[in-house]
Parts: sequence; structure tokens; C-alpha cells
Amino acid sequence: MKNNLFIAFEGIDGCGKSTQVKLLSDHLKKVGYRVYDTCEPTGGPVGSVIRNIFNHRIEADHRTIAGLFVADRLDHLLNKTNGILKKLEEGYTVITDRYYFSSYAYHGTHMPMDWVIESNSLSAGLLRPDLNIYIDISPEISMQRLNAGRSSMELYETMENLTNVRSKYFEAIEKLKHLEKIFITPGDRSPELIAENIRNEISRI
Ligand code: ADP
Ligand code: TYD
Repeated sequence: MKNNLFIAFEGIDGCGKSTQVKLLSDHLKKVGYRVYDTCEPTGGPVGSVIRNIFNHRIEADHRTIAGLFVADRLDHLLNKTNGILKKLEEGYTVITDRYYFSSYAYHGTHMPMDWVIESNSLSAGLLRPDLNIYIDISPEISMQRLNAGRSSMELYETMENLTNVRSKYFEAIEKLKHLEKIFITPGDRSPELIAENIRNEISRI
């Protein structure tokens, strides 16, 4: 049995993914695992273009953005220096802040979800997470947290869009529950309680 896992955190903006990635990573390191934390969009060349679109520096159609994420994800997996597959091979447990469920939900809002799933099938064929952790918060809480922490909002961070994205997440989870391991945890609790809930689930796998 392999003991290094690939874990993906999912949820709408501000649900607490970064907070939980750090808490889980610190915990796993403390108990002796080698852990590599990563995120999408990546810091690589395609990820940089995506970030410029989200910051409103470059304009692009939603379908173009969906395509860019397909490419960014393949680079995230296959990059020879710091790709996820290489890190797993080296024995790291890899924790990512977002993976393909983000595409299903965020782009499934603007185009047919089946297209998004199909266009990510190469990534899914290369690597499915041992566990997808979906942190659930309402769009109202998301907007409150984002407004408290930022002076400007990114492309997809509106109440209307986050409401649609959250419902697309549930649609994707339902559609793929026969293929994917998915754990849903309520995100409107203290970070420590959520972290404990996640640790318990991970110790089961
Ligand atoms: P994400 O990575 O999903 O956007 P973050 O972890 O960056 O979310 O959290 C967004 C904001 O909400 C931050 O200001 C963070 O401190 C706060 N936050 C995170 N988790 C919780 C929680 N469980 N309860 C209240 N606030 C939280
Ligand atoms: P992120 O930096 O994780 O934002 P946050 O910390 O606020 O959750 O993600 C940036 C944005 O990228 C976020 O609005 C979701 C979007 N996104 C997509 O639209 N498609 C994707 O495939 C991924 C991975 C992210």
C-alpha cells in the first residue's frame, strides 16, 4: 500500500481552503510525512496568464479561460521539475488547493459541464485524488470573508457567480460520485474543528 497521498481541496472562494491546506500539511509533517503543498492556478507560465485575466489586466472569454486551466493542470501534473507526478514519485504526500472539480464548477457555470469534464479527462486519467475535500460555505459567507480581506475583487467573485458555482459543485459531485472519493465538510465552523474533521477522514484512508 502506498503511504503518500494526493489530496485536493475544493470549494467556492473564501471557503477556507488555504487555511486548511496549511493546517493539514503542518499536521502531516509533524507526524513524519514529507508533504508538498501546491495550488491552481499554478505559478507556472499558463498560471501567470490566468492570474492576469483574474486581475483584469488581460481580457479573455470564459471558454478561453477554461482551456487555459486544462493546460495549466497538465503542466501542474507533468512539469519535470516540480510537477505533482514527480513529487508523488519522490515520496511526497501532495496537497493541492484546487484541482479539476474547480474547473467543473467554475466553467460548468458558463458552458456545458460535460465539455469541461471531457477536456480534463487527460488529467483525470493521469491522476485522480485519493480524496477530494469540499469545504462548504454559503455564497453570503464567502462574500463577507472576501470583502473583509480585500480591496478589489477578482473575475469570478460575485454573489451571483458564487451561488451558481456552489450549485455546480454539487452537480459535479453527484455526477461523479461513482468515480471519485469526495468528503464534504461544513466550512462555517472554527478552523480547528474543520481541521480535526478532515484529519479523521484522512486517517480512515
Ligand atoms: P480560500 O483559500 O478558500 O480562499 P482562505 O483560507 O484564504 O480561503 O480563507 C479566506 C478568509 O476566511 C481568510 O481571511 C481566513 O482567515 C478566513 N477563514 C478561513 N477559515 C475560516 C473559518 N473556518 N472561519 C472563519 N474565517 C475563516
Ligand atoms: P484561488 O487563488 O484558489 O482563489 P481563492 O483563494 O479565492 O479561492 O483561485 C482563483 C480563482 O480561480 C478562483 O476564483 C477559482 C478560479 N478557478 C477556475 O475558474 N477554474 C479552475 O479550474 C481553477 C483551478 C480555479
